[in-house]
Amino acid sequence: RLRLPAMTNNLTTTNRHSHLSARNSAVLKRKAVVIGEAVASDDADRIFPDQDFAQQAHVPNFEKYLEMYTRSIEDPAGFWSEMADSFYWKKKWGQQVNSENLDITKGNIKIEWFKGGITNICYNCLDRNIESGNGEKIAIHWEGNDRGVDDSLTYNQLLDRVCQLANYLKESGVKKGDSVIIYLPMLMELPISMLACARIGAVHSVVFAGFSAESLEQRIIDCKPKIVITCNAVKRGTKVINLKDIVDSALSESSQNGVHVDLCLTYANELAKKREDTKWQKERDVWWQDVVPKCSTKCDVEWVDAEDPLFLLYTSGSTGKPKGVLHTTGGYMVYTAATFKYAFDYKPSDIYWCTADCGWITGHSYVAYGPLLNGATVLVYEGVPNYPDPGRCWDIVDKYKVTIFYTAPTLVRSLMRDGNEYVTRYSRKSLRVLGSVGEPINPSAWRWFYDVVGDSRCPISDTWWQTETGGFMITPLPGAWPQKPGSATFPFFGVQPAIVDEKGKEMEGECSGYLCVKASWPGAFRTLFGDHERYETTYFSAFPGYYFSGDGCSRDKDGYYWLTGRVDDVINVSGHRIGTAEVESALVSHPKCAEAAVVGVEHEVKGQCIYAFVTPVEGVEYSEDLKKSLVLSVRTNIGAFAAPDKIHWAPGLPKTRSGKIMRRILRKIASRQLDELGDTSTLADPNVVDQLIALADS
Ligand code: WTA
Repeated sequence: RLRLPAMTNNLTTTNRHSHLSARNSAVLKRKAVVIGEAVASDDADRIFPDQDFAQQAHVPNFEKYLEMYTRSIEDPAGFWSEMADSFYWKKKWGQQVNSENLDITKGNIKIEWFKGGITNICYNCLDRNIESGNGEKIAIHWEGNDRGVDDSLTYNQLLDRVCQLANYLKESGVKKGDSVIIYLPMLMELPISMLACARIGAVHSVVFAGFSAESLEQRIIDCKPKIVITCNAVKRGTKVINLKDIVDSALSESSQNGVHVDLCLTYANELAKKREDTKWQKERDVWWQDVVPKCSTKCDVEWVDAEDPLFLLYTSGSTGKPKGVLHTTGGYMVYTAATFKYAFDYKPSDIYWCTADCGWITGHSYVAYGPLLNGATVLVYEGVPNYPDPGRCWDIVDKYKVTIFYTAPTLVRSLMRDGNEYVTRYSRKSLRVLGSVGEPINPSAWRWFYDVVGDSRCPISDTWWQTETGGFMITPLPGAWPQKPGSATFPFFGVQPAIVDEKGKEMEGECSGYLCVKASWPGAFRTLFGDHERYETTYFSAFPGYYFSGDGCSRDKDGYYWLTGRVDDVINVSGHRIGTAEVESALVSHPKCAEAAVVGVEHEVKGQCIYAFVTPVEGVEYSEDLKKSLVLSVRTNIGAFAAPDKIHWAPGLPKTRSGKIMRRILRKIASRQLDELGDTSTLADPNVVDQLIALADS
């Protein structure tokens, strides 16, 4: 039986309260009730779409959504084939559009979409849009770190650049199926590199340029790239970061561990650092500018199967080392394009800006592929969003007349703290849709984003999804239904969310539990690189028959979904996903650390921050210097973004008699909820808890 998203209370008409939808919404009486950990609100707190907006939207009302949603669930093959038809396929997929097994009790997990279809995502992003007359449209506006430094590329120019690099990669021996590691900041060369790989069927693996040499080395060892693409340095705010030094150290370490990369293509970013000041290994390093511009601007496409791999992206889980999430070509292409179009109500006249870095999935799907597949004009910003001051984002919005602005709650909260005057000094009248991603957006941040940034005029698409899902899973469709601040609202087409209890039983109606998905969707990841078994156990064995997201979720009486954060040992710091196990192993690698346990604690701006309990080795004194060097150990092992905010000395850790660390207790101590410690009698040594409390502020 088909379960449709419910919207009760006869509120499917969008405009009942449209007179309230403008500025008045902010002053509406707000009565909040707590559902799970999220805060839901009563009817008066719904924000109804503006009538004019709704009328022009791709999906103008809930009825239209239900009609499309029903079709997408009852006939996924038909629905997605139609979506796929707008792309170029060298050869159409076979009779069977999709096949899947998500039930581990029935055999191996397997997902396929458009198998047998032959296409190329780079061709569909560039050549296809050029052939349809958009060659002279701006594909990328690039805004540098410093005001006044900018650049742009039309679709024609972007294709030329991509082809030149693709030709260089081919000349260098990169073939279909080979992996390429890209370690670049937000220069135009980053999307260019991704597209060049896709053009020749190479599998890109972008490593966020905030990762340390050791993290980069780990990824190099795992995927054994033919080539590493980087730049010498980058400016972030007033700081210069010497990326090439990091790559040098990662490459020499990986070489010692048996994985030798013999080509490092380095873009000379002279605004940050001169070529001659860059350390160089003649036999391995090549300046991009010396070789790529000499290559031809014509490069034939390598046609690939829809199920051929497109990219690997490493992400953190609750245990062990980062996992290489593998996405394939066809389904990912169709899914990112469709989600982009509908969730942002994208129109060809839009100027779109997503503040994410291409080093994360958001940058893959919604800086590069999704928008370019739609022929959009994308803004790529190199710098930090509050440099030189907290008004920079709105300065950029006005400069380029940005219409769709997509960011993370952590940035919203931080700008909110800096004060409204940085926002209101800019016009922002080009904006029409706002977006949020990466972590739950708390209702007060939502309100500020809506009322102050968007002048109570722009719907907010709070998009819930993951590296694994490839694209949006639960998201508002702007204009189609009333919003509730803090709720991601309803599932996207083709997505069947299920909230299950501890036993894996799906719950109906108003409820709260673990968020799963019942059937596959085209953008789903297909495996973890080199470890299909880990893929099956991590995602499909907790609740057989379902994909388990790792997130908690509740559904309110109106059928709206409310994400409540991770229920596993993954911490979400400023929208960056960090595994507690990774931070612990970085701490333990410090010679003076005997044991460490890490938990996430609520943080006003970052959402969560990292709180580490550390037991030094016997005889080592607690000291501020030791704290600093422990934090440094995490920065060098993982990256600055994973640095713990607090080190809490622990003479011992609370463990059960079988040796398992009771993180529940650590979380309570870390958040100083000392009256909620619960039963500590099952601990091997209950005194540990008192000792930890006594050391809380030392
Ligand atoms: C969290 C980022 C609430 C969630 C796209 C998920 C969110 C993890 C939202 C994935 C949202 C992402 N509301 N939580 N709108 N978006 N998350 O893989 O916990 O970096 O599991 O993908 O971010 O993080 P990832």
